[in-house]
Amino acid sequence: MERALVLPGALLLLCLLSLFPLLTVSEGPNTDFIFNGFNNSNLDLDGASIIKPSGVLKLTKQSKFDIGHAFYREPFQMFNSVNRNVSSFSTYFVFAIKPQVPGQGGYGLAFVMAPNTKFPGGQAEHYLGLFNATTDKKPSNHMLVIEFDTRSGYNDDRDEEGNHVGININGMNSTMTMPASYYEDDAISNDMKLESGDLINAWVEYDAKSKRLNVTISPFEVKKPRKPLLSADYSRIDLDAVFQDNMYIGFSASTGSTRSFHYVLGWSFRLNGSAPSLNLSQLPRPPKENGDPPSYRPRIIALIASLSAITVCLLGLLIFYIAIRKIRMGRQGLEDWELDCPHRFQYKDLHTATKGFKESEKIGSGGFGSVYRGVLPTNRCEVAVKKIIARKDSIQGMREFVAEVESLGRLRHKNLVNLQGWCKHKNELLLVYDYIPYGSLHSLLFNRQDGFVLSWNQRFNIMKGIASGLLYLHEEWEQVVIHRDMKSSNVLIDEDMNPRLGDFGLARLYDHGQDSHTTNVVGTIGYIAPELARTGKASASSDVFAYGVMLLEVATGRHPIGSGPFILVDWVMEYHELGRTLDVVDQKLNSVYIVEEMQLVLLLGLLSSHPKPESRPTMRQVLVDSAGN
Ligand SMILES: *[C@@H]1O[C@H](CO)[C@@H](O)[C@H](O)[C@H]1NC(C)=O
Ligand SMILES: *[C@@H]1O[C@H](CO)[C@@H](O)[C@H](O)[C@H]1NC(C)=O
Ligand SMILES: *[C@@H]1O[C@H](CO)[C@@H](O)[C@H](O)[C@H]1NC(C)=O
Ligand SMILES: *[C@@H]1O[C@H](CO)[C@@H](O)[C@H](O)[C@H]1NC(C)=O
Ligand SMILES: *[C@@H]1O[C@H](CO)[C@@H](O)[C@H](O)[C@H]1NC(C)=O
Ligand SMILES: *[C@@H]1O[C@H](CO)[C@@H](O)[C@H](O)[C@H]1NC(C)=O
Ligand SMILES: *[C@@H]1O[C@H](CO)[C@@H](O)[C@H](O)[C@H]1NC(C)=O
Repeated sequence: MERALVLPGALLLLCLLSLFPLLTVSEGPNTDFIFNGFNNSNLDLDGASIIKPSGVLKLTKQSKFDIGHAFYREPFQMFNSVNRNVSSFSTYFVFAIKPQVPGQGGYGLAFVMAPNTKFPGGQAEHYLGLFNATTDKKPSNHMLVIEFDTRSGYNDDRDEEGNHVGININGMNSTMTMPASYYEDDAISNDMKLESGDLINAWVEYDAKSKRLNVTISPFEVKKPRKPLLSADYSRIDLDAVFQDNMYIGFSASTGSTRSFHYVLGWSFRLNGSAPSLNLSQLPRPPKENGDPPSYRPRIIALIASLSAITVCLLGLLIFYIAIRKIRMGRQGLEDWELDCPHRFQYKDLHTATKGFKESEKIGSGGFGSVYRGVLPTNRCEVAVKKIIARKDSIQGMREFVAEVESLGRLRHKNLVNLQGWCKHKNELLLVYDYIPYGSLHSLLFNRQDGFVLSWNQRFNIMKGIASGLLYLHEEWEQVVIHRDMKSSNVLIDEDMNPRLGDFGLARLYDHGQDSHTTNVVGTIGYIAPELARTGKASASSDVFAYGVMLLEVATGRHPIGSGPFILVDWVMEYHELGRTLDVVDQKLNSVYIVEEMQLVLLLGLLSSHPKPESRPTMRQVLVDSAGN
């Protein structure tokens, strides 16, 4: 998929152009509309609701206590306060509710007519984003709410089924309710599951003469039942007292501790007449989110497939090398070339430091090996020792390997984890680093159980530090060092909350001396630039891509790849294209952040993770941008 993100200047132009449809003002009073999917519907969206590129209106995500509203922008004249005539109306829509756990979704969807499109204090769960305990049932609400609820429990004194349809006036206590079902012919009522994920038809019709409101539902493939599920007359509802002259119409939905996606796929409405029929063959279908096989992401499947193929090859190579080693045996003492390396450690010191590489001293394990904490017996300094099974068998290979480590050992920057030295033991290579006690950026963002939340200030500072460390590797040292495995778990945070990049350059060591046509893609899924996955060629620009993903990760508090087909970069882009970039911000921040900085980070994140390498900035440009703010 092509993305319309080029440069800030072009962006501005796009924004200006997209204002144009708003400027073309129209016609007299509205009497009807029809949406076969919501492409170009220009609905007033609020909260979590978005319109997917397919044209699906998605009211809530599957996150806890989510609320989404979507309203037609213009109000309709529902009441005439001079002659006190209420207008008749009729609406038809198709919706689907897809629970996270089948049978345990929540909470529901409502069709709403209200004098306003904002519901201050509206809470999630049973209030469906419309009311709270104070505002519920207030006659001053002037609202008609048809609820499609999937959870029981709002009314303790009423033994209500969760899966129900209700007619509500001014609050969530239904004046009339029925378990979700429909009539076939006259009597038989078939049970339906609102949260089955299947498409459901719904009609809401009011006749002002007879003052009767009908609500009808049916499975998508079943045409409109003749007998409505709910039919309320004047004794139940008095819309004369509810409607104000101008009423907005739309949808609201919410989740709670249990949650579902809530979708609307098509919608029509008419005053004083029956709702226009929808062209059912044109309606978009709910996306296959929610842990379904990610069938619409062939790119990712291909990536995973090729990575697993590579893993198998790597394992094969490893076994081959070990076999050869076994045959050759011998040569376990020091080679003479090893003796004059200033960064060489004694194996016995490292063995003592880590208590013999005891499991209890292990502080992590990653793509390249396990990491142990240790205290050096020589100077009582705390170090982190990384143990790698070396794949180099020839002396030549090992010599290159060590030369590389020797040179990386000379890198010095406040945002890099200092590599103190190395040691070779049998076919293991041990790398000795400064010990950084606070843990990785990844664990601070995602794994804290104690409620600790990185503040925006800290996050911004961390991302600046990482940029400056990466710039040093790319441009400021005597040779270009490509990190090749940028990710939040490779960023360690010190006591002063400053970031230190670890594992830099290791990947290059790792495939040094390989045939060029067997070069492996080294990196971590979610951070691998598209061109890197295709060609296997890492570059400064593929590091920038991974840095961009990290920017988005830090701003949104979300993993680069989620369950199912969730891809952070695409997700943020989706919101950005809707002009709602800030809706992706990590909710744990509680809205405490500097808007300009946040916008900068999100925009920079999108630019840096651009699929085309030539469109990404360099680290120097990134640093200039964030310093200017
Ligand atoms: C809505 O837009 C999407 C993507 O542009 C397209 O695939 C779909 O057919 C459109 N739907 C309608 C009803 O035009
Ligand atoms: C509208 O109001 C007029 C005058 O009060 C009344 O004669 C007429 O019957 C009303 N129409 C409807 C549909 O209620
Ligand atoms: C709908 O019908 C009512 C009663 O006939 C009338 O008062 C009202 O103006 C009509 N509304 C529209 C928008 O035509
Ligand atoms: C409900 O919302 C209103 C308006 O925001 C607010 O004043 C009130 O305190 C809220 N009540 C509760 C119980 O949250
Ligand atoms: C809820 O509505 C029912 C019927 O409309 C009514 O009998 C009951 O008193 C209401 N409950 C509350 C708490 O308002
Ligand atoms: C409501 O349903 C009844 C049948 O139960 C029907 O007679 C009436 O015409 C319907 N009203 C509307 C507005 O559809
Ligand atoms: C519904 O949409 C399809 C595909 O766009 C079109 O071929 C068909 O003519 C439409 N049907 C009606 C009744 O408009």
